[in-house]
Amino acid sequence: MNAQPQTTAAPRHFIDLWRLDADTLRAILDDAHARKAARRGWTQGRVDADAPATGRTLAMIFEKNSTRTRFSFDAAMRQLGGDVIIATASDMQLGRGETIEDTARVLSRMVDAVMIRSNRHATLEDFAAAATVPVINGLSDASHPCQLIADLQAFEEHCGPVRGRTLAWVGDGNNMCASFIHVAAQFGFKLRIACPPAYSPSLADLARGAEMGADVEIHEDPALAVAGADAVIADTWISMGDTDHDERLATLAPYQVDETLMSFAAPGAVFLHCLPAHRGEEVTDEVIDGPQSVVWDEAENRVHAQKAILAWCFGGNG
Ligand code: CP
Ligand code: NVA
Repeated sequence: MNAQPQTTAAPRHFIDLWRLDADTLRAILDDAHARKAARRGWTQGRVDADAPATGRTLAMIFEKNSTRTRFSFDAAMRQLGGDVIIATASDMQLGRGETIEDTARVLSRMVDAVMIRSNRHATLEDFAAAATVPVINGLSDASHPCQLIADLQAFEEHCGPVRGRTLAWVGDGNNMCASFIHVAAQFGFKLRIACPPAYSPSLADLARGAEMGADVEIHEDPALAVAGADAVIADTWISMGDTDHDERLATLAPYQVDETLMSFAAPGAVFLHCLPAHRGEEVTDEVIDGPQSVVWDEAENRVHAQKAILAWCFGGNG
């Protein structure tokens, strides 16, 4: 007798955006827009009309700190009619040497999807290879795909369709920058990256992007990257796990987004930041609190975007 649920298709993992085609990504972003519009004026805990996660549980494992990802996934699952179990990796047997593959096999028998925030991207890939339920990348050293959907949602709310527009990334060519590179081809936007050579994006990401037809330029001068852009995007100069703090602060200092830099962007350009922000480092108070900043919409959109991602993982959205 076998009482375990049988999986007939490969699970829909949400780990690397470059693996997803343009139609799938567009459907997820459209669903995020629709889900946000459908619940205007509702209390945060009210369940969506379609409740696509009814009877489903999401496990979340954190190897690193989190505010937005943790709260937004929890709120998202509640709004979709499902439930969550949250754990810190160091509290699990993972912290005492149980393998990631065995952990994946066990959790696949207990929950319907797993979100992991991992130190190493390989941990996510190893977990997904052994899991029989969808695995979602809640940030790794290499990428942050959930944030990317929320960012594009905020951009489109304020500036209209992203296709054909120019986005300027300023600062460290880090995991967030990688996620923008990963979808530039599918969403059809131009990406200009301003960074010092020491902190340029991964060559593998750039090479894959070029093969996919992504329009990506690298500049050393932030003013050149920002000139006429429809969005200016910054992130911390010191990501979780980075150790060369002093070197980063010194090398990245010319890449601060201030009012002068913003003035080179297109009229109506928005400022994006995934948060947490380090005011006075990568961005000034005047910009992040100014009229072009849409960072609070961006943060709220983590809930709406993740609902669309979860619904896709559970079999919806094309
Ligand atoms: N932007 C983001 O992922 O925030 P947290 O680290 O707080 O989850
Ligand atoms: N690049 C940052 C993003 C935090 C949400 C980090 O990895 O720490």
